[in-house]
Amino acid sequence: MGFPGDMLSRPGLRSQRHGRVEDDAPTPPGREAPGFRWIPIRSLAERHRPRILAHLLALGEADRYLRFGHAATDAQVGRYVDGIDFSRDEVFGVFNRRLELIAIAHLAYMATTPSAEFGVSVLPKARGRGYGARLFDHAVLHARNRGVDTLIVHALSENTAMLRIARSAGATIERAGTDSEARLKLPPDDLVSHVGAAVEDGAAEIDYRLKAQARRLDGLLDAIADVKAMIGSTTGRSAVD
Ligand SMILES: CC(C)(COP(=O)(O)OP(=O)(O)OC[C@H]1O[C@@H](n2cnc3c(N)ncnc32)[C@H](O)[C@@H]1OP(=O)(O)O)[C@@H](O)C(=O)NCCC(=O)NCCS
Repeated sequence: MGFPGDMLSRPGLRSQRHGRVEDDAPTPPGREAPGFRWIPIRSLAERHRPRILAHLLALGEADRYLRFGHAATDAQVGRYVDGIDFSRDEVFGVFNRRLELIAIAHLAYMATTPSAEFGVSVLPKARGRGYGARLFDHAVLHARNRGVDTLIVHALSENTAMLRIARSAGATIERAGTDSEARLKLPPDDLVSHVGAAVEDGAAEIDYRLKAQARRLDGLLDAIADVKAMIGSTTGRSAVD
């Protein structure tokens, strides 16, 4: 059985989950964040390859095992990232306020059947906040809009979180020893799926630009503070006078 991103292979519908991309403080297991939260999910492109690589290399051995079906070495992860075909597949990402790529999903479209394979990873510090499930829902929407009728996830049978995401979306799970395959039948695309994807993509793009501007502003304020401190030290006056 192949795993999403395995070099031998290529990489539903539930109620919408929403989340806010917060600081990196780990969320205690089982704690549900209160209230309505929206998670901005961006479509990634060729230029994001280095950041995708950095995200995957940040995964420890156990996570790489869960993600790729084997404890992929850095070189194997590098080959996987080099092999992503952005003209065929879709890759989605969640950025935090520091514009770090904290979650990624790879939706690989099959050439011969109207199906696609889903693979996902969330950095350990960002887990348990619904990113994995939201990326799955987002992938479902995009897959439907491309005419896909079946979404497939290969996961280790021990991968409770991944199988839970697929099962809650309505997927059927077939277990074959240590490996499991989840299959989710997708409804055809419609106006709502197209408008929904367009709105999500547009809002995520705006969110990213706002974060980038906020970071530039932070940098500017830091530079001003440095200049003030320098002036203070040369004139003997306190920088905060
Ligand atoms: C699998 C993975 C993507 C889940 O990401 P996540 O953002 O933490 O998942 P979510 O917060 O959306 O949680 C999804 C569901 O799994 C449950 N869950 C999360 N972590 C869990 C854990 N360690 N054990 C059991 N259930 C868990 C959540 O409670 C939630 O269930 P619910 O909807 O019934 O409440 C993440 O653990 C990961 O990156 N693992 C390493 C790579 C991997 O396994 N990829 C999948 C194979 S392609």
